[in-house]
Amino acid sequence: MQGSEGSHFPPLLKFGAFTPEDEARLKETFTLVDEAAIERDPRLAQQVKGLVTRSNYRVTKALIDQLPALKIIATNGVGFDGIPVDYAAQKGIVVTHTPDVLNKAVAELAIGLLFSLLRRLPAADRFVREGQWLHLTPALAYDLAGKKVGIVGLGRIGKEIANRLEAFEVDIAYFGRKPQAVAWSYFSSVEALAASVDILIVTCPGGADTFHLIDESVLGRLGPEGFIVNIARGSVIDEAALCRALSERAIRGAALDVFEHEPLADSPLLGLDNVVLTPHIGSATHETRRRMTELVIRNLVSFFTTGRAVTPVPSSFQMN
Ligand code: DGY
Repeated sequence: MQGSEGSHFPPLLKFGAFTPEDEARLKETFTLVDEAAIERDPRLAQQVKGLVTRSNYRVTKALIDQLPALKIIATNGVGFDGIPVDYAAQKGIVVTHTPDVLNKAVAELAIGLLFSLLRRLPAADRFVREGQWLHLTPALAYDLAGKKVGIVGLGRIGKEIANRLEAFEVDIAYFGRKPQAVAWSYFSSVEALAASVDILIVTCPGGADTFHLIDESVLGRLGPEGFIVNIARGSVIDEAALCRALSERAIRGAALDVFEHEPLADSPLLGLDNVVLTPHIGSATHETRRRMTELVIRNLVSFFTTGRAVTPVPSSFQMN
């Protein structure tokens, strides 16, 4: 079946917003259709064999049911908690993701957020822009050197973060399902890790297994001098408990790139002065997004030409 002029592949449903650069790359190989196009011409739903999406969007079972010819869902991200993977498997639909190519970008954001939080960089920037410097002294902030840092989920991205932290004279510990062959201290419980560190960095995948892994009790153990950074998934932290802990100064501060509901709106987080907020930009660099979109395209082309994807999601997934 033909997509449209020039494409040898069936039309691809673009589910969610992509940057103009990513969309242009996809269009070099595929004819993209969106939900509005399917609404205008319902026959398209019968022709769509591939769906491309991103980590910020939820692909529902109902959407899958609307696409009877669907054979592959390719997400432009490493996380696939927004896709009903088991349901897709039951229907013989392959799901692919983009592991590894974004590790460095996400690790760099984690380190950037950590320094933004400890050194209060967004507030310092505002201090200068708003002319406060003319009559006030900037507030003191906190060192990273000498702190204990706990990594929650020492997977590919967690290791990249820990390796970079080595340069900053910190003690590193981690929580995961089982100890790994690394020099950092292992904790088999996230509560015990939180109680023994100054900073938690959340890097584990989202999904049912890690839902609200960081709850009121973990935040309580982190304590009033503790900081938390989340570049993983909003679902891993109980956000209501986090807001309470931040406003009651039960922890000192948080830097968050991900939220329970994205885009973030009407959240108490917006009114707190001890948080740094970014809009889920872990992989959002020119270089990394190019590599990710190229991998998405390689997956789709390989699947449509050979029946095999390059980076299918693992069939049974567990946190490292
Ligand atoms: C992913 O790829 O799943 C990350 O959320 C990117 O930021």
